[in-house]
Amino acid sequence: MATRGKWGSRMGFVLAAAGSAVGLGNIWKFPYITGVYGGGAFVLVYLGFILVVGLPIMISELIVGHRSEKNPIGAFQNLDGKKSIWQAAGWLGAASGFIILSFYSVVAGQAMAYIFKSFAGFSGSPDQIVAKFAELKTNPLLSIMWHTIFMGLVISIVIGGVKNGIEKWSKILMPALVVLLLGLTFYGVFFSDGGKTALAFMFKPDFSKLSSEAILSALGHAFFTLSLGMGAMITYGSYLGKKINLPRAALTVVFMDTIIALLAGIAIFALVFEYNMEPAAGPGLIFETLPVLFAQTGPFISVPFFLLLTFAALTSGISLLEVVVSYFIDEKGWSRLKSTLIMGGTIFFIGLLPALDKIQVMFKGKRQSFFDIFDFVSTNYMLPTGGLIIALFVGWKMKKNIIESENFNSKDWYYNAWRFILRFITPIAVIIIILHGLELI
Ligand code: PHE
Repeated sequence: MATRGKWGSRMGFVLAAAGSAVGLGNIWKFPYITGVYGGGAFVLVYLGFILVVGLPIMISELIVGHRSEKNPIGAFQNLDGKKSIWQAAGWLGAASGFIILSFYSVVAGQAMAYIFKSFAGFSGSPDQIVAKFAELKTNPLLSIMWHTIFMGLVISIVIGGVKNGIEKWSKILMPALVVLLLGLTFYGVFFSDGGKTALAFMFKPDFSKLSSEAILSALGHAFFTLSLGMGAMITYGSYLGKKINLPRAALTVVFMDTIIALLAGIAIFALVFEYNMEPAAGPGLIFETLPVLFAQTGPFISVPFFLLLTFAALTSGISLLEVVVSYFIDEKGWSRLKSTLIMGGTIFFIGLLPALDKIQVMFKGKRQSFFDIFDFVSTNYMLPTGGLIIALFVGWKMKKNIIESENFNSKDWYYNAWRFILRFITPIAVIIIILHGLELI
């Protein structure tokens, strides 16, 4: 059997976990759904979920991974027996990984296409720039080509393994992304006319705009952006080996992820308001707004931006694939190469559906693309359900002394707060919102 991978250092692990968390979810999705759901109130609910659902489940996933040193399916078998029903979380997680990566790759492909568009430079009115994005999105050949290239990159890094592939890349790319994003936010707040409006839009809640769909999306997004509910953090925790302060590592990752999303939101909405664009434009938002600024600043800013966006997507994409790959390495004894090629290839083929904008089917009463359906179902239902099972397992099933051996002390207030929230508040919140989303209550 192949030997399991291990991170080279604690810092490497934290950066890889942050690399998984920080991705298109922060820079592409957070701003666009904040726009769609009306700003401040949505942001507040989202932040609330990060705190009472995201952070507690992040700690739980890391504990399950670190303790079992296994992939998400094997982890539950290892901790609770071969036939454990809790392994359902692992199977559901693997399915979520397939679906998420298949549409994630399409957006990442669009980001890559924009690196090349940046070299040529952006020009024209905001309307013309919006039309350019539509051209890319609806062109089947281009979409498939970029999807293929992105999946090819993800597959090659995952073949490289834990330390030499994932960790090495995350260490370089994460810091670079933060610097560039700070620059863009700085521009948005201090130099654009839209800065003030953007801050008010994002941080002054207007609860009359808060629909129940917005609440469901805020919950789903808390999972998506932190890479939770599908075992990515179980897998990454399983490569730790060393003793490490898991609660602190989780807090660091959650903090970085949240700050980056907020910075991206401010930077993007500053431009939206500066150029009188539509905040509720939907998934195209960053491809339609940022180029308006880039048309003036030139390729020096736009090339690095889309490059880093692609890198952020890569470090997340690899974690999505790694979950599935780790299962076949651990449990079926496949080599990393074989496992990555077969699973990556399968996801590539599934991805042809969301890559083709023209294929649409009826879903929830209207014609929708697979891209939208995959995104909606995986983010809003599959991840929260997976996360719920993990929360219940760690909160109710796992032995207290095992949990306490993971750098917790039953006398610490934060241990007790975490445990209380995980056992009661997290599951109740998730259950109510899922049932409400399904219109069952
Ligand atoms: N967290 C990643 C992002 O924000 C997406 C992701 C979801 C990665 C689930 C892994 C697992 O882009």
